[in-house]
Amino acid sequence: MSTTSYSNRFQAPAEVAAYDLKEYGTGSYSSRIWELQRPVVAEILQRHQAELRRPLALLDFACGTGRVLAGLEPLVDTADGIDISPAMVAVARTKCVKARLLVGDILAQPDLLQKNYDVITAFRFLLNVEPELRRRALRRLREAIRAPDGLLVVNVHGNSRSLRHPAIVWRRWRERARPTGAMLNELSPGAARALLRDSDFQVVRQFGFGILPPTLYRTPLHGLAAGVDRSLAGDGWCNNWSIDLLFVCRPV
Ligand SMILES: C[S@@+](CC[C@H](N)C(=O)[O-])C[C@H]1O[C@@H](n2cnc3c(N)ncnc32)[C@H](O)[C@@H]1O
Repeated sequence: MSTTSYSNRFQAPAEVAAYDLKEYGTGSYSSRIWELQRPVVAEILQRHQAELRRPLALLDFACGTGRVLAGLEPLVDTADGIDISPAMVAVARTKCVKARLLVGDILAQPDLLQKNYDVITAFRFLLNVEPELRRRALRRLREAIRAPDGLLVVNVHGNSRSLRHPAIVWRRWRERARPTGAMLNELSPGAARALLRDSDFQVVRQFGFGILPPTLYRTPLHGLAAGVDRSLAGDGWCNNWSIDLLFVCRPV
């Protein structure tokens, strides 16, 4: 077992169940955002396939319960999922049909990753992993991606320049004496880009999802909020202020 707290976080059965049933339960905020993201990611893969004109090999790093991988595996020729948590991967096995699923730590076991993936996806990992591990994990992914034409598709689901920020400040203040263990991390678009650049990735496109505060989704205004977020999602003028940032990167 790893010594780092984020790596240990998704080992307990209760955390695994909460991830699928609460975080991604029917109608949850995260599910609504994924409904907006999924077609964008699918189109990125399809365009890449058309451009390369060869079978695509995908790695979904930190695949968790297979949420992303199950949606993307039909679009590629081979798909691997890797995660440090056996319990998360056990759920992924129930959702994925053809993906090869591996349990392990890419930092401790460099041989775990094959080389020359055409696409690597990494969702909901960068923001909450310990800062000192972000760069190390990205460097390992950089070694595993085909250069120069591979693609890294990575998200940061807590933009500090978004309307999520005031709620995070409030929760940090409220929990200052008695922390609940809630993940209250944030990263700015500039910091995320710098991190990617320092790890030898060049951002070639940036998308944004979710402009309005997630709390609105728990009010009678949820339909209106979902409509506004749907109309503003993508790579338009306001994506730098979106809560969930999606970066498409090429290896340098
Ligand atoms: C929030 S979940 C995201 C799962 C999936 N990518 C998704 O978006 O639904 C974060 C995942 O990162 C995994 N993780 C944490 N540290 C890791 C590491 N060092 N190597 C591989 N996976 C790790 C956890 O086990 C967990 O499954």
